[in-house]
Amino acid sequence: MFGAVQFGLLAAGIVLFVPMGMAGWHLSRNKMLFFSCALFITLAVGVHLTPFFPSISDFLYKPYSISDSSLPTGTASSSMIRDSCIYSLHSVVMYKSNYSECVNGAIDSNSDSGCKKMSWKWTQSGSIAECEFQKLKKPDVSVLLNGSWVVVAGDSQARLMVVSLLELVMGSEEIKKIRGDLFKRHSDYSTTVDEIGMKLDFMWAPYVRNLTNLMLEFKENKDYPDIILMGAGLWDMLHVNNASDYGVSLSALKDSVLALLPVFRNKDSIDRGVSESAWIRSPHLFWLGMPVLINSMLNTEEKREKMNAVMCNAYDDEVSRTKLLRQSGGPLLKLDIHWLTDLCAPQCTADGMHYDGVIYDAAVQIMLNALLLESNQKPR
Ligand SMILES: *[C@@H]1O[C@H](CO)[C@@H](O)[C@H](O)[C@H]1NC(C)=O
Ligand SMILES: *[C@@H]1O[C@H](CO)[C@@H](O)[C@H](O)[C@H]1NC(C)=O
Ligand SMILES: *[C@@H]1O[C@H](CO)[C@@H](O)[C@H](O)[C@H]1NC(C)=O
Ligand SMILES: *[C@@H]1O[C@H](CO)[C@@H](O)[C@H](O)[C@H]1NC(C)=O
Repeated sequence: MFGAVQFGLLAAGIVLFVPMGMAGWHLSRNKMLFFSCALFITLAVGVHLTPFFPSISDFLYKPYSISDSSLPTGTASSSMIRDSCIYSLHSVVMYKSNYSECVNGAIDSNSDSGCKKMSWKWTQSGSIAECEFQKLKKPDVSVLLNGSWVVVAGDSQARLMVVSLLELVMGSEEIKKIRGDLFKRHSDYSTTVDEIGMKLDFMWAPYVRNLTNLMLEFKENKDYPDIILMGAGLWDMLHVNNASDYGVSLSALKDSVLALLPVFRNKDSIDRGVSESAWIRSPHLFWLGMPVLINSMLNTEEKREKMNAVMCNAYDDEVSRTKLLRQSGGPLLKLDIHWLTDLCAPQCTADGMHYDGVIYDAAVQIMLNALLLESNQKPR
């Protein structure tokens, strides 16, 4: 009814100010009175008729319901909140952890001391607090990912995401046992977490072309994971070192992703009235962004030379230019590793490229909260 009140005020404003404005055009008092009455009657009739034209009252009171009618979740306002929350997911801060937090479970299986140096949390300012982001614990994740097939594809950054995700669902002791297999150089890794029936495949895919091939394979086999998290760029930068060529492969990847999807979550497909079930069955797609590279810390001369700031920016620009990401209307939601690593570089990295667990933990939690938002659930 908020809309009705606003409309009433607007109408009153028009009745009052339009004739006053006309007085400025030297109209006689009678003419002004005539205009005033005519306007009043038109508006009054309009207001009383709107309830009989559903489309008009929809337009007045629920401006976002049009695109919402074919969405699987909730009301117009909940979908607006969801969208704004999705883009607030990266509102985090990093800070030095203290001992009490370390003994309370911030264990880092990557570090010798076993204690994470840095911690992170979501900022709690007004609109972000309303999103109720939370660090999910094992029971919540078990429910959320129960029976799902998760594919993580890419380079060593993607592998570190697998470590953080598995640590969350299996515990850090289990991770120590499988670390050897997981970190065999340049190899794939598959596991099933029996407790929750989650199947996880890590695919070694250092180049964007490898990711494209993977998408084509899914398409050919008509077998789609529930979640695909992928990203590549570092190898390309080091071994190809040509940003426009990287852009060409990103465009091809985007096409292969769009071809893979039963429907693509954009306005067009919603307007075309794509069915709900098809929408729900689309895999959840994430792009793993590149980290901040700290040039002076990179461990070879070749890396220091080729992976410089100019090249990093050029590669980043290609990701924007090819509109691969949801922010620019594309299919993939970005996990902004660049932003996260920038919050704690250089303390959180030993080689200027691979970061401590805290970064990938935060990215995993951001991804899980995005999944919660998209499936319109709240953890218990
Ligand atoms: C350590 O962290 C805990 C939890 O955030 C906080 O309550 C406590 O005050 C901190 N202690 C110190 C010494 O900073
Ligand atoms: C996972 O789903 C299965 C079948 O729907 C159910 O029996 C089981 O309790 C679920 N497990 C968890 C941890 O939610
Ligand atoms: C990835 O792509 C490169 C270049 O196209 C190719 O040489 C390599 O064999 C591929 N690797 C995998 C694992 O598919
Ligand atoms: C970079 O790649 C583009 C497109 O693949 C190619 O036309 C161009 O010659 C390459 N530039 C260099 C310096 O190799």
